[in-house]
Amino acid sequence: MSGHGAEIVTLPKINPADAIPADKLVFTAEEKAQLQEYKSRYPEAEGAVMRGLWFAQEKFGFLPPEVIRLVADELGIEYARAYGVATFYTQYYKQKMGKYVLDVCTCFSCQVCGGYDMLHHLEEKLGIKPGETTDDGLFSIQGVECLGACGSAPMLQVTNGPYVFNLTEDKLDALVDSLRSGKMPPFTSVTLPQDEEEMGGNRRSDAAAVATYQTPPVAGAVE
Ligand code: FES
Repeated sequence: MSGHGAEIVTLPKINPADAIPADKLVFTAEEKAQLQEYKSRYPEAEGAVMRGLWFAQEKFGFLPPEVIRLVADELGIEYARAYGVATFYTQYYKQKMGKYVLDVCTCFSCQVCGGYDMLHHLEEKLGIKPGETTDDGLFSIQGVECLGACGSAPMLQVTNGPYVFNLTEDKLDALVDSLRSGKMPPFTSVTLPQDEEEMGGNRRSDAAAVATYQTPPVAGAVE
């Protein structure tokens, strides 16, 4: 679920308009108590770093360096530890994102099933590149690593929430229309079929709608 492997990641430049004013850059007494409660669940304070960052993201909307530092200070851990975790996972937003963040999986299984086609379709439809947000603040898109639903590739996740499986361009168009009208897709749990019969030969019920995927990787036949 990470996005960056071992590469060294730097935080993006924050648009000055999105900066959190100093007087808002605080946890309330209740929030501090909540963070301490998370901390108390683990033998080491560092154990609470993921929950603490998530908590901060829920409050501030994203995790610029000053928020990462605030969490680290509150938990009493090194900033570098919190920074490392925040930058490792794409689910932690390092810059202000749109209301709906469309995480398109481009990891192996999704990639060979057209994950990049799906990402490129969204780029064209929304007029933004991965990491960018539409001018109306509604949509951000990202290419992300495996989200653990490879059996339903290609897939995406909406704002760290519902998954949308077996993507096609039509399905993406319907999703964007639905989100524009404020309707999130329902949460659907991923269950894998237990045998071939249940699979019905092809789990992609909409496979016929997709002729070929256009974007890499393009594999030749293996003789
Ligand atoms: S490769 Fe896309 S969910 Fe695993």
